[in-house]
Amino acid sequence: MKLSTGIEGLDAILGGGIPKGYVVAVIGSYGTGKTTLGLHFIYEGLKNGESCIVLSFDEDEESIMRNAKSVGMDLGKFNNVQVIRLEAMGVKKIFERIESELPELIKNLNASRMLIDSISVLETLFSDQERYQILSSFKRILKSAGVTAIITSEADKYLPTASKYGILEYICDGMICLKMIRKSELDEPTLGLEVVKMRGVKHSRKPKPYMITERGIVVYEEAEVF
Ligand SMILES: Nc1ncnc2c1ncn2[C@@H]1O[C@H](COP(=O)(O)OP(=O)(O)OP(=O)(O)O)[C@@H](O)[C@H]1O
Ligand SMILES: [Mg+2]
Repeated sequence: MKLSTGIEGLDAILGGGIPKGYVVAVIGSYGTGKTTLGLHFIYEGLKNGESCIVLSFDEDEESIMRNAKSVGMDLGKFNNVQVIRLEAMGVKKIFERIESELPELIKNLNASRMLIDSISVLETLFSDQERYQILSSFKRILKSAGVTAIITSEADKYLPTASKYGILEYICDGMICLKMIRKSELDEPTLGLEVVKMRGVKHSRKPKPYMITERGIVVYEEAEVF
């Protein structure tokens, strides 16, 4: 079974959507629309009557609601969504809270979709070893709860298809990259979406142009970037 991402063109590339139970990384540099893509996925679930969780390490709840609304998604009209912001606190404390509270939260809400935005902010607080631990811990919790999740991450400075710390791609079943592609410094950049991996799914790897509009992300799956 596949879950629609709420973005028509992306669903078309994925042959229907994200396979149920998958943990998918959305990687891109700042302002490429990672949060927006994740919110489309959540909004689609809400419209279907599914319960959803947004765990933010980045924007606060108000800012998330406001930005979602500015691209046509009014999260406020649903009561089956829980937006939680974990502020930068001690590493140990975060780890404890996630381990102890997240499984219960997913269970109590009977959540089927989750957005974690952005993992890079959290990763910044950890050492290399801890980073691997926290990511595998997330994966274990999400998998055992059977929730389908999107985890956003900043891209590596030099490699747009890699996450900032290079760990996320290994724990995820799928990976979508959002890239700003410039023909030359003087041209307006083109935004390109690339499905880098999606286990068990036949998909194109060709970057497809997309735009962020007042109705959110629109992917032109039949067009070419250049
Ligand atoms: N109503 C709108 N119309 C057109 N473009 C918009 C609109 N709202 C937002 N945008 C564009 O979307 C971008 C923000 O998208 P989003 O916050 O999803 O990106 P992000 O990758 O999560 O960024 P960050 O790294 O800052 O978290 C804005 O910088 C702006 O360029
Ligand atoms: Mg963001």
